[in-house]
Amino acid sequence: RDDLPLAGRRVVITAGGTKEAIDPVRYLTNRSSGKMGYALAEAALAAGADVTLVAASKRPCSPAIRLVLAPSAKAMLAAVKKAMVGADAFIAAAAVSDFALAKPFDQKVKKTSPDAHLTLDLVQNPDILKTVGQQKQPGQVVVGFAAETENLLENAKKKLTSKGADLIVANDVLAPQAGFDKDSNQVTLVRADQAPVTVGPESKLAVAKKIIQELVRLLDQA
Ligand code: PMT
Repeated sequence: RDDLPLAGRRVVITAGGTKEAIDPVRYLTNRSSGKMGYALAEAALAAGADVTLVAASKRPCSPAIRLVLAPSAKAMLAAVKKAMVGADAFIAAAAVSDFALAKPFDQKVKKTSPDAHLTLDLVQNPDILKTVGQQKQPGQVVVGFAAETENLLENAKKKLTSKGADLIVANDVLAPQAGFDKDSNQVTLVRADQAPVTVGPESKLAVAKKIIQELVRLLDQA
């Protein structure tokens, strides 16, 4: 049906900024609120999809969205792998920490002396989008984001290839009405076979609806 183009389709979406434990009371995170990923989940649901939203943070959403909370990159990867079995599409809107502590402290870290330094040993986290891109099954569509502060299109095109994505949503996070925690966004849709298309600035839900329209086209071609 034209009004429900994703009816019968299963879509998995990530949202929010992951939290990587330092000790039992502290963590490393970033400025992502989850608004973009939650808006995509609502837009996919409105298009008729069965939606699993793997989110690092909790926000209000339609009860018909299957919400799986996964605070860290490792937890998010495990939840995404499980949800992707038999899924038609993956959209990676989360801001996943590229690094985590090699070994989080078991107890709260204390100041030992007035001039004490603390060095954190960070190791690379798994790349969720790249993992899904590499394991892509025939007919599946993979959409990634690229949060950039410079060379937007160039970096987005690199991510298209390196992450095995069919579409990269390039987000200049320094643009005035775009990026982290804003209610609006402005993005450029980057595909290998088409000229880039700029969307917005407009509400994150309006931007999400246009990304979902592009996903519908990609699924029709897959
Ligand atoms: O949450 P909001 O406050 O609404 O803000 C929205 C947003 C700015 C977070 C969103 O629009 C956005 O740009 N999300 C991607 C953020 C990001 O981490 O981009 P990146 O260029 O570092 O990563 C590229 C892609 O790889 C992204 O799809 C990311 O989800 C994915 N990735 C990155 C690292 C990693 N370890 N695993 C991943 O899956």
